[in-house]
Amino acid sequence: MAVADLELSVGGRQLRFPAIWLRDNCPCAGCVAAGTGQKLTDITDIPNGLAIALAEDAGESVAVTFAPDQHRSVFSRSWLAGHALNRYGDGDGRTEDDKQLWLPAELPEIPQMSWARYLAGGRAQALEAVLRLGFVLLRDVPAEPGTVLEVAASFGFVRETNYGRLFDVRVEPTGPRPGNLAFTSRAIRPHTDNPYRDPVPTVQLLHCLRTAAEGGDTTLADGFAAAAALRAADAESFGTLARTPIPFGYIDKETELRASMPLIQLSPRGRVRGVRFNNRSAGPLRLPYAEVTAFYAAYRRWAELLARPERQLSVRLAPGDCLIFDNTRVLHARTAFSMSAGSPGRHLQGCYADLDGLASTLAVLRRGEGA
Ligand code: FE2
Repeated sequence: MAVADLELSVGGRQLRFPAIWLRDNCPCAGCVAAGTGQKLTDITDIPNGLAIALAEDAGESVAVTFAPDQHRSVFSRSWLAGHALNRYGDGDGRTEDDKQLWLPAELPEIPQMSWARYLAGGRAQALEAVLRLGFVLLRDVPAEPGTVLEVAASFGFVRETNYGRLFDVRVEPTGPRPGNLAFTSRAIRPHTDNPYRDPVPTVQLLHCLRTAAEGGDTTLADGFAAAAALRAADAESFGTLARTPIPFGYIDKETELRASMPLIQLSPRGRVRGVRFNNRSAGPLRLPYAEVTAFYAAYRRWAELLARPERQLSVRLAPGDCLIFDNTRVLHARTAFSMSAGSPGRHLQGCYADLDGLASTLAVLRRGEGA
């Protein structure tokens, strides 16, 4: 008699899989392409009312024959165990559940590595730090203009924007008014970059070519750790921030960018998956009155929490230092710096890249490690 589910015990665990799930994941040559493993069938190709006519447990593998069409699928037991149904399932490594959240005091040391070591087999370890902690500091990267693009190309693809393939962060004395506060010597509070883009650039690189005589320190803060702290202390504010779309925008002569996104972005399972924080590019909120006032109360709490000194990790970049960080998680800031007469002043070069490309490079590097 046909049954609805496959039940089997693996290592003392009782697992259960619905017939439709098994069939949709059938690994046979008729259902997936050799080589890429991509599916050849659509959901509507599978008979409706599918059931399991016969399950043959051969230890290492389990063969399932489906009713009504007698299609036969063979699953390895280890594959089934590795894909057991569970309640989490966000699964792509991007939520708070797959991160190590931190306060600066909890980090034994800054994740860092010399460029020479990175190139000589250290890459996986450095990229893993970006995914787990949100950043890594590469040292002794040649302090030559344009090298930041080489760093990005070492793990992914440069994300070109209206600022170009790379952007220079330095005081721009030319013209009456710099287009962006970044190009002045003022302090810049913790923020994420380019919240007005969709998709947002998920990785940012900052490469130091020259330091300021005084000040200009970079600080980093873990936005996921802060979001988890806000949720624990004030679940209502957390919920308000996750539900309220903020109209971010950027406008100049050639550009007009808009993206309406919440300050705290949740996964479909309700876990923290991204933060955007940049008051400079937040436009007027147009929502019902009560939602606007509730948002501002939550926004203030969130901003105060993010700016707490104990959340700021100070990293004074020296020439040759290159930070790679997760722009969906880690907020960056800089202190004001001095411009001494005659000195060429602070100069960083930055560019953007993407986390999925970084994760792909890491996954490929790890093939064959037996993981
Ligand atoms: Fe920035």
